[in-house]
Order: sequence, then structure tokens, then C-alpha cells
Amino acid sequence: MILFASPKENGNTALLVKWFIKGAKSKGAKVELVNTAKLKYKVNGCTSCQECQHSFKYQCVIPDEASPLIARIPQVDVLVLATPIYFLGPTAQLKLFLDRMYSLFKFERGTGKVRHHLNNLQLCLLASASGGPGHGLSLTNDTFKSLAEVIGIKFSSLFVPAAGVSGTIKSNKGIQRKAIALGSKLAN
Ligand SMILES: Cc1cc2nc3c(=O)[nH]c(=O)nc-3n(C[C@H](O)[C@H](O)[C@H](O)COP(=O)(O)O)c2cc1C
Repeated sequence: MILFASPKENGNTALLVKWFIKGAKSKGAKVELVNTAKLKYKVNGCTSCQECQHSFKYQCVIPDEASPLIARIPQVDVLVLATPIYFLGPTAQLKLFLDRMYSLFKFERGTGKVRHHLNNLQLCLLASASGGPGHGLSLTNDTFKSLAEVIGIKFSSLFVPAAGVSGTIKSNKGIQRKAIALGSKLAN
């Protein structure tokens, strides 16, 4: 499952996703592309209602387009977060979705233990930014690497510094090759 989180449908993130999918499909992977910028939400992000923590189910109770997608994440092999860097982090479009994934975890009071069904999941970050690595890419990479470590799952990433504005990586054959190779590797 790819969480495509750029508002630009023909921008740099879209290109990274297109190349990644090419690689993944070359190995026969089934790809589900979710455009998080287009999802119809009932609320703007997690409301911390804690209903998911008082239920045995690993799903968000808010009845909108995000909830059924989130509930299926434990069944996917690879979750790809594809985002441009906005203000040194992932876009709001991605964060809105990610925070709702709180429902995939049960936080045990007192012990600090966290239960989930994501053991077989791999997390992957595809990100680009107009600045250097210090302008948000490294921070964002660290954020999701740490998330993967906390959950105890594998993490990989491809990030593109100095990517310019939307669509400027189109002729970058080196990045294209890397994105295709990553898609193909994670599909294996
Ligand atoms: C609102 C906004 C905030 C941005 N913030 C950053 C930033 O903090 N650091 C950076 O290096 N680039 C920043 N950029 C540039 C984008 O990350 C970069 O152009 C990216 O490749 C765009 O991807 P896209 O074509 O998929 O939209 C920002 C762009 C926008 C529109």
C-alpha cells in the first residue's frame, strides 16, 4: 500500500511513486495506491477520542474513507509513505492519515507496552525536498526510522535532496533507477 501524500499529481513525489511501482510490478507485486490528499475525512485528523483503545478491534471508529484503509494495513506487506518535505516534515496530508493509525496500536497503561499486528509489515519512505538533507529530509527519515524501530519492523528509504520544485526530477535517471530498484527489492 502506497500512501501518496503530495497535492501535486504530476510532481516529484508522483514520479518517485510511478518508478517505485514500476519496480514493484516487475516482480509481480499487487500495488494499492492511496491518494491521501483526496480522501474524504469526517474530521481533520485523530481526535484522541480513545475509542480504539477501549475496543478489542484494531480499527478507527470514525466512519470515513480513511478507517477501512487503516484497518487493512496489518494485512499489507509494505507500507510506503511518499511525501514531499513541507516545513521540515511530511505533509499534513500524510500526517492526517498517520495519526489515525493510532488505532492499530493498543497502549498498555502502566507497563508502557504496545501491542499491534504489524510484525510482518515493512515501512518505506519516499521523499523529496528542494533543500539539502538538513532542510527536513534527514529529520523525516529519522522520524520514520524511529517509528519502525519502536514497532520492531524493517525500514528503508529513498530521499531526494535538491529536487527543485514539482516535476524537476523527471530527467534524473539516477533517481529513477534507484526508485525502480527499491520497488523491485521490496516486492521480493
Ligand atoms: C508548503 C511547502 C513547504 C516546503 N517546505 C520545504 C522544506 O521545509 N524543506 C525543503 O527542502 N523543501 C521544502 N519544500 C519543497 C518541496 O519539498 C519540494 O519541491 C518537493 O520536491 C515537492 O514535491 P512534489 O512535487 O511532490 O510536490 C516545500 C514546498 C512547499 C510547497
